[in-house]
Amino acid sequence: MAKLSNDAAFVEFKRVQKSYDGENLVVKDLNLSMPKGEFLTMLGPSGSGKTTCLMMLAGFETATHGDILLDGQSINNIPPHKRGIGMVFQNYALFPHMTVAENLAFPLEVRKIGKSEREKKVMRALDMVQMGEFGGRRPAQLSGGQQQRIALARALVFEPELVLMDEPLGALDKQLREHMQFEITRLAHELGITTVYVTHDQTEALTMSDRVAVFDDGRIQQLAPPDELYEAPGNSFVAQFIGENNTLEGVVTKISGNHCVVTLDNGEEIDAMPVNVTHAGERTKVSIRPERVEFNKERLHEDAHTLKAEVKEFIYMGDIFRFRLSVAGNDDFIVKTRNAPDAVKLKPGEIINIGWLAEDCRALDA
Ligand SMILES: Nc1ncnc2c1ncn2[C@@H]1O[C@H](COP(=O)(O)OP(=O)(O)OP(=O)(O)O)[C@@H](O)[C@H]1O
Ligand SMILES: [Mg+2]
Repeated sequence: MAKLSNDAAFVEFKRVQKSYDGENLVVKDLNLSMPKGEFLTMLGPSGSGKTTCLMMLAGFETATHGDILLDGQSINNIPPHKRGIGMVFQNYALFPHMTVAENLAFPLEVRKIGKSEREKKVMRALDMVQMGEFGGRRPAQLSGGQQQRIALARALVFEPELVLMDEPLGALDKQLREHMQFEITRLAHELGITTVYVTHDQTEALTMSDRVAVFDDGRIQQLAPPDELYEAPGNSFVAQFIGENNTLEGVVTKISGNHCVVTLDNGEEIDAMPVNVTHAGERTKVSIRPERVEFNKERLHEDAHTLKAEVKEFIYMGDIFRFRLSVAGNDDFIVKTRNAPDAVKLKPGEIINIGWLAEDCRALDA
């Protein structure tokens, strides 16, 4: 079978649907195309269909409709042992009767790799997950986090072309987790491994990935590089799911080009950029990031709208200050400022004016 060129899709979901019970779709019309070497993360609430997508891609579940292609071939037509997929699943099942080293050597034996080469690769994989000393233990003699690291090493030891990882770092503490995040992305890029990664941790998703697919309700809500996802969320769900976000609700009252005025439910007006609204009279949820709120009026457009805000809480976080404000009936409006020499420490009870550039405030679906 002819290999596809580099820029062609290596993994492809084409109009994929999945139902377990023949009634409810847990994956709905999923389309996804990944080039070789890409690191893609699926991020989304529990039950949104992430693991189901990985299971279908691995060939353990079949799609109810649509097609999944690996290097141009339907996954259904590639026998499991020829798929060359490394996997770490949520329940990381190691072979209980084998030692750690035997667990890692197993995928290499299957691939007929000689003994000395095998030993070298096993040692390297163990070192990568900081488990070099544990080769002789059995899985039952390891902690949960240690087992998870062995499962990770086993998925990578044979340098597969495609790796699927479902919450592979869930059981690790922050420091080890950050170290492993770095190791995984380094290795994936170095070996040109195509990776589909699932996590609940959005910082992990943003820092590790080339692109992130935000899942909700069996659909990809947005598929974009991390910076685009954070700075230009395409709908209200993504805006609220990724990063910290302030939401205000109202009705579009004026709209022209890339500026609109939204009249909030308490009657106050704000400036926004129309994203998912097209005409006056439409209800909208506007989204504004905490670091884009300005309380120095001089830095705003002279005819910019401002809102009265009451300071509810001041939180000193070292590098940044975090304020909780009451704005237009929302008592949970967050503002962040850098701890710069001229930064103001507002006190609870103070009344201030806040505003923003229209392009920093996105008028999304209601
Ligand atoms: N084997 C199964 N039989 C029936 N329903 C299933 C099965 N596996 C998953 N589901 C259902 O399919 C939906 C999607 O599940 P899935 O495991 O893909 O979610 P997920 O996004 O991985 O969630 P989590 O973040 O909690 O792991 C859920 O409603 C789940 O209950
Ligand atoms: Mg899951």
